[in-house]
Amino acid sequence: MLDFGVNKVHDEARQGEAYAPSETMPFGFKKKFYIESYGCQMNFADSEVVASIMNEHGYAATKNYEEADLVFLNTCSIREKAEQTVRSRLHIFRQQKRSRPGMLIGVLGCMAERLKEKFLEEEKLVDIVVGPDAYRSLPGLIEEAETGQKAVNVLLSRDETYADISPIRLDSNGVTGFVSIMRGCNNMCAFCVVPFTRGRERSRDAGSILQECRDLFNQGYKEVTLLGQNVDSYYWVDEQKDELVTFASLLEKVALIHPDLRVRFSTSHPKDITDEVLHTMSRYENICKYIHLPVQSGSSRILQLMNRTYTREWYMARVNRIREVMPDCGISADVIAGFCTETEEDHQETLSMMEFAKYDMSYMFFYSERPGTLAARRYQDDVPEETKKRRLAEIVKLQNQLSQESNQKDLGKEFKVLIEGDSKKSKEEWMGRNSQNKVVVFSKFGSTHKKGEYAMVKITSCTGATLIGKQI
Ligand code: SAH
Ligand code: SF4
Ligand code: F3S
Repeated sequence: MLDFGVNKVHDEARQGEAYAPSETMPFGFKKKFYIESYGCQMNFADSEVVASIMNEHGYAATKNYEEADLVFLNTCSIREKAEQTVRSRLHIFRQQKRSRPGMLIGVLGCMAERLKEKFLEEEKLVDIVVGPDAYRSLPGLIEEAETGQKAVNVLLSRDETYADISPIRLDSNGVTGFVSIMRGCNNMCAFCVVPFTRGRERSRDAGSILQECRDLFNQGYKEVTLLGQNVDSYYWVDEQKDELVTFASLLEKVALIHPDLRVRFSTSHPKDITDEVLHTMSRYENICKYIHLPVQSGSSRILQLMNRTYTREWYMARVNRIREVMPDCGISADVIAGFCTETEEDHQETLSMMEFAKYDMSYMFFYSERPGTLAARRYQDDVPEETKKRRLAEIVKLQNQLSQESNQKDLGKEFKVLIEGDSKKSKEEWMGRNSQNKVVVFSKFGSTHKKGEYAMVKITSCTGATLIGKQI
């Protein structure tokens, strides 16, 4: 598989770093493209599909947008802030284009899908607008744009999964890889723009998922994360074998590829995560004991307005079941502060839910109204901004305390850690993760291990975000 450098940038939830550049044009390529990605892991995985399509058509990736013939921004619409970040990035690329008029700017992903042709009116100098299901048409659109026309394809599809496209790993550590197992979302959470930008839910051919995971393992990868907006509704009928593949059975098949290949997944919906999935997780050592289970709110009234289709009690029962089946399982959540009509009492219920679930980690946001969503059409965004921010600050403070407590509990414990590379702070330390997805840092001194290997580490101290230990 080819692996040329490309850039990525995350939204506020994830911070990224740059890729290694390709210094010269690789043989057989005619032009260079640059891509920057925002938003969720699925968007990053899509950029790897785009890179593959571009390579096939003679474009090599570059890390440096100043030398690129084509500059792509793979965008996110989840919150207003994510869109603002993209717009300020576009500003810089437009300046670049003024000095190099031949350069083309393409906007891909969710913001392209949300704004469609309007993007071209709002952001002059953007040449290409392509939605998440239309990446196969990129080469044709580029040709069109090269003749000076504006090129747009924002058609959503009911069956596109890019199953046959072998993604080109961008910015990869060569140890952990992401594999899309489905696209779109059929839930209609009132706050969420994803069903509008990504379209209907569809599952990818199980055989192609397994092949991609096997390929990654054969290339030296030791961990795959299966990605979907709602992985528990994965559903595939293998007609040749006359077999129904559910998410639980898919997990098992991936786990069986090799005991040294770790399996993770994201995201689970509390209404859909089954006991079968939990039992499958507990049966296989290499399925990581970690579940991201977005709660959004601890108040049943707010959950109903959000159309999450579960109650506070249901969510608590799911957490209890996880702990029952896997006492050592890490749990994290997404939390939204200040959704429409949220009272102080509702907010207190969110805080008490966090204490109940004892999340190891959370992604926390204040509500940002998105045009076209159920909430934007039906409810008033009536919680004042300063109240939203104050409630969010309380949520963040509590989570910091819970993370600290969770890490304190790990002192003295021994974990199997997959080494992902050097620690951020020092080349003399390894950084890796335990099964529960916690970052573990330990000294290389006296260690014979290499990146991509497993090490047994005893935890000796911690910060709120990191476990620090010694190899045993
Ligand atoms: N499919 C995943 C979530 C995808 S979006 C799931 O259902 O859990 C990631 C997170 O962004 C959501 O869980 C939610 O917490 C947050 N989010 C989505 N829309 C938002 C909005 N309008 N304002 C603030 N946060 C939002
Ligand atoms: Fe959005 Fe809800 Fe679908 Fe998640 S499950 S992507 S929050 S609509
Ligand atoms: Fe953003 Fe689209 Fe993902 S809106 S969070 S990039 S599905």
